[in-house]
Amino acid sequence: MQSTDSAPAAIVTGAASGIGAAVARTLAERGMAVAAVDRDARRLRECAEKIAADGGTIHPVPADVSDPAEVEAAVAEAAELLGPPDYLVNAAGILRLGAAVELTDQDWSATFAVNATGVFLMSRAVVRRMLPRRRGAVVTVVSNAAGTARSQMSAYAASKAAAESYTKCLGLEVAEHGIRCNLVAPGSTDTPMLRAMWSDESGEASTLHGNLGAYKVGIPLRKLGRPQDVADAVAFLLSDQASHITMHTLTVDGGATLGV
Ligand code: NAI
Repeated sequence: MQSTDSAPAAIVTGAASGIGAAVARTLAERGMAVAAVDRDARRLRECAEKIAADGGTIHPVPADVSDPAEVEAAVAEAAELLGPPDYLVNAAGILRLGAAVELTDQDWSATFAVNATGVFLMSRAVVRRMLPRRRGAVVTVVSNAAGTARSQMSAYAASKAAAESYTKCLGLEVAEHGIRCNLVAPGSTDTPMLRAMWSDESGEASTLHGNLGAYKVGIPLRKLGRPQDVADAVAFLLSDQASHITMHTLTVDGGATLGV
């Protein structure tokens, strides 16, 4: 991906589970030195151990992306360990479901703290370190719900739309410095976050085949996304193969939002 003697350095958030874990593993397999950030230190360590058992390496850096001091310390630690960052993947996220008029203040602020403010804090800290070197790439994992109304998901969808807009504006400002900022918008992807949404065994069928009562058409490709599907899209957008792509949202949802 980049031509220096040392491995290019990547920071991946949400790396203890699901999509972030698949991204961290994939980037490590592609020769990057990966700082894996998550607030769940125990699962982060377990994830690093699993990758090590398969012959790979990631460096756990536990931190809460919604806390400015923890973000600054984590990015400084990653830079100290692996060198200045070449890549950032914002994959940490939380989902609070509930009717738009029933969500609590806490649901709203917690969702925005991680999904929007977390993206801002991490991107600001990392891109500041990319600017003097005039290179780097950022990918923020949003959701197909950022651009498509979904019932019970208003806070989540709004927070993802905020993250998407911030990442594109950042991409505009730093483009002249050789830094690219893109988004991946997954649909239903088989991770603990998705399974937590299913209240009974009909959850998967309803995800695949749709639920017109909820105005969801299902997934035209008739399969759930895998974390690896999303990780491959992220790795593409970070790579030199995407060297002329910035401020772009790549949807990875099996057609669930009908290409809109
Ligand atoms: P997950 O729940 O399996 O993993 C999320 C990870 O983020 C967890 O390890 C969690 O500890 C970490 N995290 C949460 N808050 C954090 C914080 N404040 N600081 C640091 N780490 C924090 O979820 P999944 O499915 O892997 O989601 C990854 C990303 O993909 C999220 O941004 C999610 O919104 C997005 N996404 C997921 C979809 C799905 O169907 N699974 C669909 C669309 C988007």
